[in-house]
Amino acid sequence: MFFIVSNIVEHSVPRVGCSSFLSRKYIQSPPKKRCPVLASIFQSFFPAESNTSKVVQLEACNISHDAQQAVFVDNMAGEARTLENVNLEILEGEFLLLIGENGSGKSSLLNILAGLDVPDQGYLKWYGKKIKSADIVSRIGIVFQFPEKAFVGDSVFEELTLGLEHVLPEDIEEALDVCALNNISLTTSPFLLSGGQQKKLALACQLLRFPLILFLDEPLSGVDHFSRDSLIKVFDKLKRKMTIVVVSHEPAELFSRADRVLQLFGGQVRQVPESVIQKAMEWRRLKQNGF
Ligand SMILES: Nc1ncnc2c1ncn2[C@@H]1O[C@H](COP(=O)(O)OP(=O)(O)O)[C@@H](O)[C@H]1O
Ligand SMILES: [Mg+2]
Repeated sequence: MFFIVSNIVEHSVPRVGCSSFLSRKYIQSPPKKRCPVLASIFQSFFPAESNTSKVVQLEACNISHDAQQAVFVDNMAGEARTLENVNLEILEGEFLLLIGENGSGKSSLLNILAGLDVPDQGYLKWYGKKIKSADIVSRIGIVFQFPEKAFVGDSVFEELTLGLEHVLPEDIEEALDVCALNNISLTTSPFLLSGGQQKKLALACQLLRFPLILFLDEPLSGVDHFSRDSLIKVFDKLKRKMTIVVVSHEPAELFSRADRVLQLFGGQVRQVPESVIQKAMEWRRLKQNGF
């Protein structure tokens, strides 16, 4: 049963001042119904603009996984596994960028971290305590590489509110505003939106679920140049409001946003040296300037 104030189901969302969340402090447990003055959909517990804390929020411990094994039971004998003894710490409030070639296992790892897949070996810890995959799911938000494949609503409004017991109109407004979607009609089919808008809608859907960690799988792939810039501005707004983990095989624009950059290679996670990141950013600058 949705809790809706009727005027929200109008054609487009009225623009309201939502920028105030940027200067607010946040609390850890989202209230069932928000107090319009003190709360926000950004129920992060990181003070705005603070530096990343060193508190480990989620930890992958000795994760090994063979993604192909799930489908083709016998054909991988002797070959390298998708993930081989991966150890990874996600720090509270950070913007973590995980890069790697296509097929290196980024999505497989993301799905495990998000509790959507159970690793063949290894386990996850939440604030230092072992946690079952199924118990992670409600704490995270994930935007898949092809979010449109997961859309089921007939309208943007239905997509945003599906499965939610209580939705406040101001939360919907805020989610759409932050995702730069306030000019779309709530009655539009999600399938009629552009690729960039679909990614933003999927993100808005996740924000309405109060994620403590946001996982974004290839958020810029299949998105035109204009939408890429717009999406990056959205990420900039969300940075420091919640923990963000982005995986990407084309990370050029994301390097400068990331607090840490890790690479998946040969089934393992490794640190990307600062010098390599600087070179990649310089190369991008030269390319942009026509060299
Ligand atoms: N459902 C699946 N069935 C079979 N193989 C899979 C499946 N998912 C992933 N793989 C394989 O696992 C490896 C890692 O895939 P993936 O995690 O999607 O990599 P990335 O996201 O880095 O491109 C690839 O070799 C891929 O073909
Ligand atoms: Mg992938």
